[in-house]
Amino acid sequence: MRSYTDYKIEITIIGAGYVGLVSSACFAELGFKVICIDKDSHKIKNLKNGNVPIYEPTLEQLIKKNLKSERLAFSDCLSEATLNSHIIFIAVGTPIKEDGNADLSEVEMAVKKIAPLLHNHKVIVIKSTVPVGTCQRLQDSIKEINCNAKFDIVSNPEFLRAGSGIKDFMFPDRIVIGLTNGLTRTLMSNLYQGITEKGIPTLYTSLENAELIKYVSNCFLATKIAFTNEVSDLCEKLGTDITDVLYGMGLDNRIGQDYLQPGPGFGGSCLAKDAQSLIKIAESAGSPLNILRSALHSNFQRKKRIKQIIIEACQYPIAGMRLAILGVSFKANTDDIRESIAVSLIPELQALGAKIIIYDPIVQKNNLFVDVEWGTDVYNTLQGADAAIIITEWDAFRYLDMKKVKSSLRNTVMEPTLIDLRNLYTPAIMAKSGIRYVSVGRTTIEAAHTDLAKTS
Ligand code: UDX
Repeated sequence: MRSYTDYKIEITIIGAGYVGLVSSACFAELGFKVICIDKDSHKIKNLKNGNVPIYEPTLEQLIKKNLKSERLAFSDCLSEATLNSHIIFIAVGTPIKEDGNADLSEVEMAVKKIAPLLHNHKVIVIKSTVPVGTCQRLQDSIKEINCNAKFDIVSNPEFLRAGSGIKDFMFPDRIVIGLTNGLTRTLMSNLYQGITEKGIPTLYTSLENAELIKYVSNCFLATKIAFTNEVSDLCEKLGTDITDVLYGMGLDNRIGQDYLQPGPGFGGSCLAKDAQSLIKIAESAGSPLNILRSALHSNFQRKKRIKQIIIEACQYPIAGMRLAILGVSFKANTDDIRESIAVSLIPELQALGAKIIIYDPIVQKNNLFVDVEWGTDVYNTLQGADAAIIITEWDAFRYLDMKKVKSSLRNTVMEPTLIDLRNLYTPAIMAKSGIRYVSVGRTTIEAAHTDLAKTS
């Protein structure tokens, strides 16, 4: 069998954002010649020097390696970048508009610029998350702009997660390709051969099915998380332990353990955005997804519940208290704070009179949070604080020296308190630490003492 690189496929990727950069680095790593373009010349200049504007584990090393091997290049000139390519990926952002619909202006702009350049046959692959029917409409608009254009359009949604993008690209659960003819299928099969030969299943389907698979996947994950967090609240009322309850539930192979971790609610630039878009798509189609509306509302309520958990855990009025926030990114292993609960929670705690100090291993001091201090490591952040609040599940917060935590926190207004919104610890482990421990979906510290009595 010919190796896929024997086909000498050259790839252009439009959009040097998270998806575009991860895809460019990985396709280059797979052996293809890739040129990644973006209209932001400053970003391109930095990328040409190997300076990557986002934090994503191993991405910078992969980009530098493939710049050096000249399999990867960056440009801000679209015509130059598309001249020799066989496949042009569009991986630009599709943020949410005020009315809840996806903003397709960047995708449409990219297509408008490409259309006049399609002299010899190219495959235009839409990797951006777009509403059902968009690819077909883009195909029609290319033909309107350039009736001689030689091209096929493909929908190839990505399922990359912040913090594990490279792994998710190289070892996905599946590859989804929406297309309209067999010739394109051969080319796309050759393109992904380096991944599918590891036994990764590929679904070839219609453009519309591929577009919808992306939305429903993200929205199911959002619903699963929202359900988890509501079960967590129920456990607090029933005195049951969310950890055992969800583990027992997840042992059912039809449910599975993934996305059953309670926390402060789902954040990030995708789950909530895609849920809002799909609600709009479904409404327009006359088949509303009420369950999704409930999941979004539940996630909104989760943020209010988290604030209440903190207020109750502080026992006394928060005014004047010094609270140490551990982690502000929306999840571990990313510097992305979009839709992170920290963005809304910190100003709300300040409005109650709290003094805030923040430590995040990657998110640097920024002007998003005003009148806050920034620590340089966990323990100097905890120094003199009344309570520590774990918002993000960074590894840096998983193995804390509880003796140092206790001695760093002050013991004047109330007992040294650790509020663990990610359940990185357990009441039983914390019972002997001398720190008041509050987590989500679990019994209180007193009950944990009883627990210990039973087991010791
Ligand atoms: C998500 C989808 O997983 C990915 O397939 C898609 O391409 C982009 O959107 P991402 O938002 O990067 O990826 O991260 P993900 O790991 O899915 O987490 C999303 C949010 O849910 C985070 O705030 C995370 O903390 C939260 N989460 C996740 C939970 O609260 N509990 C869980 O069990 C899992």
